[in-house]
Amino acid sequence: MSSKKLCLVCWVVVFLVCFQSVHSQLAVGFYTSSCKMAEFIVKTEVRNGFIKNKGVAAGLVRMHFHDCFVRGCDASVLLDSTASNTAEKDSPVNNPSLRGFEVIDNAKARLETECKGIVSCADILAFAARDSVEITGGFGYDVPAGRRDGRVSLASEVLTNLPPPTFNVSQLTTNFANKGLSQEEMVTLSGGHTIGRSHCTSFSSRLYNFNGTTSQDPTLDAAYAARLKQMCPQGSTDPSLVVPMNPASPATTDAGYYLDVLANRGLFTSDHTLLTNAATATQVNINARDSILWKRKFAAAMLKMSKLGVLTGNAGEIRANCRVINS
Ligand code: HEM
Ligand SMILES: *[C@@H]1O[C@H](CO)[C@@H](O)[C@H](O)[C@H]1NC(C)=O
Ligand SMILES: *[C@@H]1O[C@H](CO)[C@@H](O)[C@H](O)[C@H]1NC(C)=O
Repeated sequence: MSSKKLCLVCWVVVFLVCFQSVHSQLAVGFYTSSCKMAEFIVKTEVRNGFIKNKGVAAGLVRMHFHDCFVRGCDASVLLDSTASNTAEKDSPVNNPSLRGFEVIDNAKARLETECKGIVSCADILAFAARDSVEITGGFGYDVPAGRRDGRVSLASEVLTNLPPPTFNVSQLTTNFANKGLSQEEMVTLSGGHTIGRSHCTSFSSRLYNFNGTTSQDPTLDAAYAARLKQMCPQGSTDPSLVVPMNPASPATTDAGYYLDVLANRGLFTSDHTLLTNAATATQVNINARDSILWKRKFAAAMLKMSKLGVLTGNAGEIRANCRVINS
């Protein structure tokens, strides 16, 4: 073989190796040649959903978190239950509180018309969460794409992977560390609670039956507790009762959450507990004082979370319908 031919062979090998790696990891602009409009279409559908109901932005941010912490960001949270399987979305952690599914469905429907079989549901959700942060006033970030969709979704895996609102700071730190996220990133991401709402059932034990007593959590600001009790009457199991998590600006991604926590008005034990540890309390103070810094850290932590346990390359599939695995 001449050295020229040998060189050509080398280049082909180099090209193939590069091509392989491009397709087995995430990349910003992944759909630039295969589906140019992908990110634009998702952003448009997030905007359309937000115009109808500002709460969908909070719903989509939480949905991405619940996807990524259970089997990685593989859209397992989007699958519907079947006759033989109870899916993640029907765990009591997610049903009936998770919302925004229709935004994903609308985006997917348009994308299947535009570029059939190209854009994964996991990427749609990652884009939609980023767009939701942005539309509520947080900082945007480039979302590397190329996630593929999983074929497994088990309700039984939700409680074992997602932290309940009763967790204390050490339990939260361990839970996030299990996902490769630091304690500081845990405090930063808890700021997601600066938008959205909670059902009364998620925290009413703090009002009426704290830690097995018959009284309220003494660490909860008394005036705030009184207001919460009006909105969430004792004994009510009405699943439609909800309260805003950051009442001052429930649809704005700002540092309001940290001001709430500092005022003993964090809604969950998992919010208040951030004040009980020196390192996390310092973080709460820093974030409360510097909203810009927190928004920057929040974007970076969301980006890191969006890469957890992703399926790439030939793993998984590109679902035709985000609610069902391909047959
Ligand atoms: C640190 C541990 C966390 C716990 C214990 C926790 C727990 C909860 C609970 C119980 C709710 C209320 C659900 C309901 O009753 O409707 C909620 C809502 C929410 N969470 Fe978290 N969460 C945590 C971390 C996160 C993270 C990391 C994010 C995203 C970055 C996030 C974003 C949200 C959002 C946006 C809502 C409002 C959802 C809506 O309005 O539909 N949470 N969370
Ligand atoms: C957090 O809860 C766990 C389990 O209940 C307990 O063992 C631990 O001591 C608690 N940590 C703190 C800091 O309260
Ligand atoms: C909860 O109750 C137990 C026993 O009744 C007590 O030892 C513990 O300190 C209480 N925890 C909190 C956070 O009040």
